[in-house]
This record gives sequence, C-alpha cells and structure tokens, in this order.
Amino acid sequence: MTTTGSIAVRDGDARPAGTAYRLSGVTKTYRQKNRTVTALAGVDLVIPDGQMVAVQGPTGGGKSTLLQMLGALDRPTSGSVEFGGHDLARLGDRALTELRAAAIGFVFQSFNLIPTLTALENVQSAFAGSAANAPVSELRERAATALEDVGLGDRLDHLPTELSGGQQQRVAIARALVKDPAVLLADEPTGALDETTRDEIIDLIEGVWSARGITVIVVTHDSWVARRAERRLHIKQGQVRDMQ
Ligand SMILES: Nc1ncnc2c1ncn2[C@@H]1O[C@H](COP(=O)(O)OP(=O)(O)O)[C@@H](O)[C@H]1O
Ligand SMILES: [Mg+2]
Repeated sequence: MTTTGSIAVRDGDARPAGTAYRLSGVTKTYRQKNRTVTALAGVDLVIPDGQMVAVQGPTGGGKSTLLQMLGALDRPTSGSVEFGGHDLARLGDRALTELRAAAIGFVFQSFNLIPTLTALENVQSAFAGSAANAPVSELRERAATALEDVGLGDRLDHLPTELSGGQQQRVAIARALVKDPAVLLADEPTGALDETTRDEIIDLIEGVWSARGITVIVVTHDSWVARRAERRLHIKQGQVRDMQ
C-alpha cells in the first residue's frame, strides 16, 4: 500500500493501514407527521481504508440513511461518525461541504445528471465552487480524461438524453471520480439498468476500486452485485450486521 496525496494505491495484497469510517452508536430518527421513524438504530461499524463493501437489505431498512451518514450529507440524531479519524460532529456545515466535495464521490440510481449539460460539462460541474485556482482548460482536460477512463472518450459533447442509461451512469461515475475522492458511495447504482448494463457498471466500479484502492460502498438490492464486494453488510430495521 502506498499513498499518493490523499489517494491510496493498492499494490499486491498489501492491506491498507487506516480506518475510513468508525461509527459508534449511530441513531437516526425522522419525524413523519405525528410519529417518529427510526431509520438507524445504534449502528456500530468500522470500515477500513480501501475496503469494498456491499450494503443489502429490505426497502426501508436504512440503507440510504446509512449512506447519507457516510457521505456527511446529514447528521446522526445521536452517536458519532468518524471519517479518516475526524469526528464529523466537530465540523460545521461549511467544513462538511468542503469535505464532501474533496473526499467523497456519490453515484445514485437515477444518475442525477444535469439534463441541459453535455457529458463533459456534467463531469466538469464537479469542480464548481472548488479548484477555482486551476485554469478552465485544465479542468476540462481532467473531465475529458475521467470520461475516457469510463469508456466515453467519444461521447464528450452528448447530452444525457443522447446517451443510454448505462452511458449516463458512466458519466455520473466519471463525475464522482474526477476529483480523486478517497471514497466512492453508490446508492443502487445498477437499480435502473438491465442485466447486461448492470454487469458493465459493476465491472467498472470494481475496476475503479482495484486500480485506485479507494474505499467503495455500494448499496444494492442485487445479490449478484453484492457478491462482487469484499464484505457484505445487511441492514434491516436500522440494524447492521456482517453477512458471511
Ligand atoms: N427524509 C426522510 N424523512 C422521513 N422519513 C425518512 C426519510 N428518509 C428515510 N426515512 C425513513 O427511514 C426509514 C429508512 O429509509 P431508507 O434509509 O431510505 O431505507 P432504504 O434505503 O433501505 O430503503 C424508512 O422508514 C423511511 O421511510
Ligand atoms: Mg434507499
């Protein structure tokens, strides 16, 4: 394991040393009209740097809520989330936004591309509000390279409507990776795709993981997808357990 900047690179079977996440007693409740729903019920979880983890479980079990905690998109009701050794509760909203932008890539089931922007512009949009010192030509070059890396070097100027679902998800993956995040979080990334495309996307995610050694956490309904991960978690009624 060697580290270049914040990016861990896998060599051979060497195991990463650090801890990506440490969750202690994480509870998340939501108010729904006049009742309280417990989405996470006291989750204790350690995820080492560079692990590829699948998260499975029934609808409403708390998978997306867990990903929101890991992505610093929301704060727990109680308990603590440490990311790279830092307690996220100590960071203000602005620091959390900066952390998210710099260190975490997100991929969603519905791709979440901006429909009026080309593939290249969608990937470049990851730089909005950051990397302001870098010249636009350099950001454009990095975005183009990220699209080439996901096999879309010949689709830079296409709009999302001119791309297949699988291609749109590749654009979303390029956007998630263009800033070299330490972590990739994917919420049902193959949920909207047919089987062949599903296989291509999971191959791509697995390839990213093994080439870059980043931490990858994939929520999936699909056992076939989950079996590609190093570790499988099951979450039901807000409680997480390791699957064998
Ligand atoms: N923003 C929200 N407001 C109210 N309730 C929510 C919200 N997000 C999730 N929930 C509730 O929390 C529980 C867990 O949801 P979620 O994490 O989305 O599960 P999953 O992704 O496994 O389907 C569900 O009962 C859901 O209705
Ligand atoms: Mg969900």
